[in-house]
Amino acid sequence: MSETATIIIEGKSYEYPVIVGSEGEKAVDTRNLRSDTGYITYDEGFANTGSCLSNITFIDGEKGILRYRGYPIEQLAKSSSFISSAYLIIYGELPTAQQREVFRERIRREASVNTGMNAMFDGFPARSHPMAILSAMMNSLGCYYPHMASNNREQDLEHFDEAAALLISKVRTIAAMSYRAEKGLPFVWPRPDLRYTANFLHMMFSEPYATYEPDEDTVEALDLFLLLHADHEQNCSTSTVRMVASSGANLFASVSAGVCGLWGPLHGGANAAVVKMLTEIHKDGDDGSRFIVAAKEGKARLMGFGHRVYKNFDPRAKILGKAVERVLSNMGRKDPLLDIAKHLEATALNDPYFIDRKLYPNVDFYSGLLLRAIGIPLDMFTVMFAIGRIPGWIANWREVAIAPKQKIYRPRQIFIGPEKRDPEEIS
Ligand code: ACO
Repeated sequence: MSETATIIIEGKSYEYPVIVGSEGEKAVDTRNLRSDTGYITYDEGFANTGSCLSNITFIDGEKGILRYRGYPIEQLAKSSSFISSAYLIIYGELPTAQQREVFRERIRREASVNTGMNAMFDGFPARSHPMAILSAMMNSLGCYYPHMASNNREQDLEHFDEAAALLISKVRTIAAMSYRAEKGLPFVWPRPDLRYTANFLHMMFSEPYATYEPDEDTVEALDLFLLLHADHEQNCSTSTVRMVASSGANLFASVSAGVCGLWGPLHGGANAAVVKMLTEIHKDGDDGSRFIVAAKEGKARLMGFGHRVYKNFDPRAKILGKAVERVLSNMGRKDPLLDIAKHLEATALNDPYFIDRKLYPNVDFYSGLLLRAIGIPLDMFTVMFAIGRIPGWIANWREVAIAPKQKIYRPRQIFIGPEKRDPEEIS
C-alpha cells in the first residue's frame, strides 16, 4: 500500500499521497490542498517545496552528493568533458563517439554570430556589466532565429536540437565579444580547428597580430569549471528558466531570464564576491582571522560559504580547490588570495559558528581563484558561470516543454497589506 500523509485542519483530517523519488526522497503531494481545505502552504524561499518532478540532476545536500543523470560528479570530472556532460544533461545519456561528433559539429558550425549583432554591442554604454549584455543578447538571438523562438511549443520543440547547440555555441562567442567590446578591442572570430573551451579562450585573448595559445592545463581546468557548473537542479536561475518556460515562452527568452537570476551575489555573483572579499582582506593586512570574527558577529558574510541545499561539503568545491592549486603550480605562480582562502576555510571548518550552521565552502569559494589564475577579469566571472550553466537551463526548459500537462508556474501568497478601504479624497 502506498504511503499517505494526514493533515488535520480545523479538526478535520485530509489524506494526501506521498511521492517517493528514485533516491528515496519523499514529498507530500499537496496539489489538492487548497481545493480540499481552502488553505495553502507557506514556504518563503521554497526551502521545503518541490516545484517539479525532474530526472536531470540529483543532489543529496546532507551527504554532499551531486549526480548528472545518475553519474557522480567526481567521475564526470575525471573522465568526461564539458561538451559530453552537456549532451548527457540535455539528452539523458552520455553520447556515443558518433553522437558526440555530430553534437560537436553542430556547435562548431554555430560559433559565429550574425554581424547584425555587432551593432548591438556598440549600443551599450561603456562599462555596461557583461551579465546585462549577455541576458539581452541571449534574448535577441531569438530574433535572428524566429522559427526556433516562436512560442509555439510544438514548433520550438521541432527545432530543439538546433537551438540547443546554437545556444551552447553562441553563448561563449557573445561572452567573449562583450569582454572585448568593453575593452574597445576588435572582435576575434572563432576557429574551426579548436575545441569548445580553447576556442573561447582564443576569442577572449587572441589579437589580430598575435594568437593566444593557452596551455593544455589551462584549457582543461576551464573545461572542468564549465562541467562542474553545468546543472544544479532547482536553484534560483534554473527555477526562473522553468517558470518562464511554463508560460510557453521559447528557449531563448527562458535562458535570458536565467542569466538575470544568476547575476545576483547570493547566486552566480558569489564567485566575484569571493575574490572581492579576499582582495579586501589582503588589502587590510588580515590573514582572514579578523574577517571570520566579523562574519560571526553578523558584520560581514563569508562569501563562498553556505548553501541552501548542501549541509556538507559541496563536492564541486573539493574538485575545484584542487584544480586551482594545480593550475597555479603549473603556471609557477603563487596567489596570496589562495593562502587567505585556505586559512579562512580551515578556520571556519573548525569554528562552532560555521559547524552549527552547517556552513561549508560552496563551488564559488574556489572558482573565482581559478578564473583569476586563467586571466578572466572579475566582472566576467558570473558570465563564465552562465556559459557553464547553459546545458542545465536547456535541459530544464525541455523538461517543462515536453511535459504532457504542464501547468503555468503560479504560486500564491498570503496578503498582509491593508484591508479594503476607501479613499477620503482622490486627488
Ligand atoms: N557567512 C556567515 N554566516 C552565514 C553565511 C555566510 N556565508 N551563510 C549563512 N550564514 C548564517 C546566517 O547568518 C544564518 O545565521 P542565523 O541562523 O544566526 O541567522 C544561518 O547561517 C542560515 O543562513 P541563511 O541565509 O538563512 O541560509 P540560506 O539557506 O537562506 O542561504 C546562502 C544560503 C544564500 C547561499 C547563504 O549561505 C549565503 O549568503 N552564502 C554566501 C553567498 C554565497 O556563497 N552564495 C553562493 C551559493 S552557491 C551558488 O549559487 C552556486
